[in-house]
Amino acid sequence: MFSHRVPRDLAANRLSTMVEAARAEGRPLLDLTASNPTQAGFAYPEGLLTPLADARALRYDPQPLGHTDARRAVTREYERQGAAVPADRIVLTASTSEAYSLLFKLLAEAGDEVLVPRPSYPLFEHLTRLDLVSARPYDLEYHGVWSIDIASVERAITPGTRALLLVTPNNPTGSFVTRDELDRLAALCTPRDIAIIADEVFADYELEPGAAAAAGRTAARRDVLTFSLGGLSKSAGLPQVKLGWLAVSGPPALAASAIERRVPGSGRRSPRGRWRITARCKPASPRFAPAGCCAATPGGARCSRCRRSNRKKISCFGCSATAFSCSPDIFSISRANRFSSSA
Ligand SMILES: Cc1ncc(COP(=O)(O)O)c(C=O)c1O
Repeated sequence: MFSHRVPRDLAANRLSTMVEAARAEGRPLLDLTASNPTQAGFAYPEGLLTPLADARALRYDPQPLGHTDARRAVTREYERQGAAVPADRIVLTASTSEAYSLLFKLLAEAGDEVLVPRPSYPLFEHLTRLDLVSARPYDLEYHGVWSIDIASVERAITPGTRALLLVTPNNPTGSFVTRDELDRLAALCTPRDIAIIADEVFADYELEPGAAAAAGRTAARRDVLTFSLGGLSKSAGLPQVKLGWLAVSGPPALAASAIERRVPGSGRRSPRGRWRITARCKPASPRFAPAGCCAATPGGARCSRCRRSNRKKISCFGCSATAFSCSPDIFSISRANRFSSSA
């Protein structure tokens, strides 16, 4: 009945079961995993949420990348951190989780891989699976301080790797990615067309003074396509406020291309009034072959590249030439022919 994207086993793990039992018995517990700031005794500034009542919010004014004023505010936030990120390189999202989902759709075909740090944010396993992407771990190592085992990143890369995820500062180690690490990772990613996704939601939380200023800057890179993620849920200490953003940097043409290809929901409309999307012709992964892909249409038109049968016709944005693609339901950046298709 339910897809493989969602968990099969809903049973509570051993720790949760034991905590539950201890609570039921009324035993006093000191919960070291408590992470809800709104229940940690902080005094929030008076009027912190007053701007939410601004009457301008009563007007519905849809903008593909998010409201311009809000994106300018994010630009100012980057300025405060010492990075110049123009508002037209910022996309607003409803949480960091949504940003991850948009980026996986933008960069990866079903069955492709992204590299995730270990130890890190446990939700990566679920976020990737929901978008049919595989999470391959690379290691952080501890030797008085935490650092990235760059050799383990190199070992984890395969031809199916589309993105390298960084969390800086990392949850749970608190360690920032250093400038040297970032340069070495960019050198690994650039020639392989691997994008960097840098989760910086905890940017304001340094364990030692000066750690943030000394860290590698992801938001203004020009060598590798980079998506820097931030959000109010952490920077305002209010997990219920789900305004997030992503800042796109990298080689200017590639960064602009990524912004243009924003996925449906923030895309632009074709002259015929239907969503236009870009597709890269690539055989679907056998592991995640979607129902109705080329294998299901014997005798149909053939994919222009791999020659497998298919039924979906796509046409080039520039010259309107038509072709057939075997995976038109899956979108990604391609430096080759740019085809559009009606979703
Ligand atoms: C590293 C990291 N990124 C993102 C999030 C979630 O952010 P959001 O509430 O914007 O989805 C968390 C939440 O704990 C986190 O630890």
